Amino acid sequence: MTAIEPEGLTKSFANTSAPALDGIDLDIRDGEFVVLLGPSGCGKSTTLRMIAGLEQPSSGFIRFDGQMMNGIPGRDRKVGMVFQNYALYPHMTVEENLSFGLRSRGESKASTAARVGEVLAMLGLAEHAKRRPRELSGGQRQRIALGRALVGRPSVFLMDEPLSNLDANLREQMRMEIARLHTEHGITTVYVTHDQGEALTLADRIVVMDSGKVRQVATPRELYLAPNDTFVAGFIGSPGMNLLRVPLQTLEDAGHGASAVTVSDGLLARLGKNAGEEVVLGVRPEDLRSDGSAAALRLDCRVALVEQFGTHLQVHLTLGAPCGQLPLIAKLPADHDLRRGDMITLYSGESAIRLFDPSTGSRLTEHRHGDLSLALAGQSDSGIAQQRDEVVEAC
Ligand SMILES: Nc1ncnc2c1ncn2[C@@H]1O[C@H](COP(=O)(O)OP(=O)(O)OP(=O)(O)O)[C@@H](O)[C@H]1O
Ligand SMILES: [Mg+2]
Repeated sequence: MTAIEPEGLTKSFANTSAPALDGIDLDIRDGEFVVLLGPSGCGKSTTLRMIAGLEQPSSGFIRFDGQMMNGIPGRDRKVGMVFQNYALYPHMTVEENLSFGLRSRGESKASTAARVGEVLAMLGLAEHAKRRPRELSGGQRQRIALGRALVGRPSVFLMDEPLSNLDANLREQMRMEIARLHTEHGITTVYVTHDQGEALTLADRIVVMDSGKVRQVATPRELYLAPNDTFVAGFIGSPGMNLLRVPLQTLEDAGHGASAVTVSDGLLARLGKNAGEEVVLGVRPEDLRSDGSAAALRLDCRVALVEQFGTHLQVHLTLGAPCGQLPLIAKLPADHDLRRGDMITLYSGESAIRLFDPSTGSRLTEHRHGDLSLALAGQSDSGIAQQRDEVVEAC
């Protein structure tokens, strides 16, 4: 298997002002499942295409296991790639679609047939071997595309939004299939998506990208608990973290009732901040509650909209003056009886609060559940998988 190390990877296309990729450094470990996540146009596909050798960097390097890949054509990189639109040959049968690459690489008829049979069985497609792509369902076509990438025994598996053409149920099924393939074969995988659910469930580590740059590389749990900046904080989570640009003040400083956002004396002291200092205060919708015993943060809000999700309510709120009607979202238990226009006070504990620098957006507070990196370093894979499940549930 293969470690992949892009270094200073930059790509500028002709007739564009900003580079599509702007100095990407990554260290993708042997056998790792890494997801590239970010908004449309942030450079995910361009990164993947350069790793595949389909696109050449304007500057920077890509190494596989320390070996320079610049200038080495894609067919010599032992890479299997799956695209969003499957890119199957419509006039070929399933079997022929899978055989084509091996035969054109000079594999014998017998060994090609054996390998294709193996992959068809692995993906549960043996009975469809003689059909053409148009005679198959979307999910089956997607499996063939996976099979075609696997048949050449790649050392690197690259997938660009492979599930986005499938309906929700099938997407979930295929997601489990991809996770199973990775667990069984341990092929280094780089997977592009803008679906957070996919990223959080599949990834060992997620690379969050924005405007051609890497914002953070971390496990799903680290991203959720300790986002580096306001972009990652707002992007991860469903919905993302509430980010309130406010002066830090206690109920007493504000003069009781005069401010919609106040923190406890204890929190202010522990943060080492002065009252009145402006910060961006981050708190996740699922960390707000209406019971305020010993809370570190207090928010006086007005209900703007209540969405009923069955399991919980998603409540859209506004914080009043002097914060200038800041919007806020809270996930509250389904038994709350709330209507548009109601006033409600919400609270959160200290461990849920993150502070960010208002000018740079960088996180100021350390993660407060102990040292996350230390906690994660000693963990087994199953421990990480369990934490990943917790994060997915929270999102
Ligand atoms: N061949 C090209 N010529 C010019 N600009 C391009 C080309 N390919 C990509 N770009 C630009 O590079 C930037 C990154 O594109 P890329 O396809 O990598 O984004 P992405 O993150 O995969 O987005 P999406 O989620 O929409 O697929 C975009 O601004 C895009 O318009
Ligand atoms: Mg793309």
